[in-house]
Amino acid sequence: MLTTTAIVLAAGHGTRMKSAMPKVMHRVCGLPIVHFVVQAALDAGCGEVIVVVGHRREQVEEYLAQTFGGRVRTAVQARQRGTGDAAGVGLAATSDRAERVLVVNGDVPLVRGEDLRAVAHPLDEGQASAGLSLATCKVDDSTGYGRILRRDGKVVAIREHPDLRNDDERSVREINAGIYAGSVALFRAALESLVPDNAQAELYLTDIVAFASRAGETVATVTLGADVLSGVNDREQLVQVERAMHARMLRSFRLAGATIRDGVRLDAGVVIEPDATIEAGAVLRGTTKVERGALVDVGCVLHNVLVEAEAVVRPYTVGTDARIGARAHVGPFAHIRPDSDIGEEAHVGSFVETKKTKMGRGAKANHLAYLGDGVIGDGANIGAGTIFCNYDGVQKHTTTIGPGAFIGSDSQLVAPVTVGAGAYVATGTTVTRDVPPDALSIGRTKQVNKEGYASRIRARFKAEKEGKGRAK
Ligand code: UD1
Ligand code: CA
Repeated sequence: MLTTTAIVLAAGHGTRMKSAMPKVMHRVCGLPIVHFVVQAALDAGCGEVIVVVGHRREQVEEYLAQTFGGRVRTAVQARQRGTGDAAGVGLAATSDRAERVLVVNGDVPLVRGEDLRAVAHPLDEGQASAGLSLATCKVDDSTGYGRILRRDGKVVAIREHPDLRNDDERSVREINAGIYAGSVALFRAALESLVPDNAQAELYLTDIVAFASRAGETVATVTLGADVLSGVNDREQLVQVERAMHARMLRSFRLAGATIRDGVRLDAGVVIEPDATIEAGAVLRGTTKVERGALVDVGCVLHNVLVEAEAVVRPYTVGTDARIGARAHVGPFAHIRPDSDIGEEAHVGSFVETKKTKMGRGAKANHLAYLGDGVIGDGANIGAGTIFCNYDGVQKHTTTIGPGAFIGSDSQLVAPVTVGAGAYVATGTTVTRDVPPDALSIGRTKQVNKEGYASRIRARFKAEKEGKGRAK
């Protein structure tokens, strides 16, 4: 479909969303509604994608430019005069090379590339090919949708809900899904013929069907499932559509060999490889990827995290913009903050927080610690209660721990500071100067034991307490 231009209609207010944000920017499985429709058009092989924007268009334009770059252009519909007017704005922006257009409502995020290709297909059937093709859907309740009107089986018009003329029309269960394909020439002629003589005083794109029928063109319909065509008009439909998209993703990962328990939430950009296991209550966001054999346990929240093969992420771990290396163990209750890089076979235990810290292969920090702005060598051991003091109130500084070094419990490393390979920092030390490789660093007051002193002290405290009691 190299010479096909997709026109995505996304200029409407979306009044029923009752939102300050344009409807097509509301998120389904983590991505704006319009993202899915644009992606479907690209997947269908459209050589050009034009998104018609209007209401609060800056937000839509910015997102599209950031996400799709030069592959998508926008055209501005200054006033929202109806879907026919919007399609006309898109058509005017279409390049001269385009032979065909595929017009898609921007509010149907479940539509896929293969569905759009199916709608365009009747245009390709040689002698019997259609002049116009549109997607329809059979529904139990057609309230609110445009009805497909047929005479002798042939489509002759679409009647919008507010314009229905009689009970026969009202009872039609075949509805217009808002996806149309035809030649540029036909669209141009049809759109020029539109007039706003309807209940909403709008230019209806749907009137191109009656135009094509009158012009003697064959109008083909392609029936797609309601699961593909559900539109988003209000917040209730937003959640229904998200549920459907989510179910589709889960099914495909499960059938490919991943175990994903009920009650897991996935964003559309998440990838779960075969033999990975995701336990109940985990929420995987953004571009999180869980590789083969890895386990993400109950209640974890991971955003843009790469969990490499056979890693174990124990319950209630929170991770953002980070890597968890192959066969590493993280959690429970670990906080892996942005730019953390947990090396292969490393261990990060409960109540450990890392930020912009790289842990080498097999390094361990098993119990409560703050490791910010660090570089930790292979096999190093970070004791309980260790703090990388990375912030002086103005700047952040780096703590470097050499391979195989041992940091005793309750130590503070005042950055910038380096502990050499294999060095030993004694428990309770505040490290302010670099420690050479293989050195022992100890910085704490000497311990004194006074024999028999405990009972004497206790007796004194008791006497003081009784003295107070008498004074009362
Ligand atoms: C439209 C169809 C209806 C169909 C339904 C399927 C028309 C007249 N009606 O109705 O037959 O059953 O979709 O979901 O087309 N838009 C603009 N500019 C405008 C108006 C709308 O860009 O001036 C965009 C909206 O942002 C939206 C799309 O066009 O993405 C559809 O508009 P909407 O108002 O939702 O149409 P429906 O009433 O759902
Ligand atoms: Ca709609």
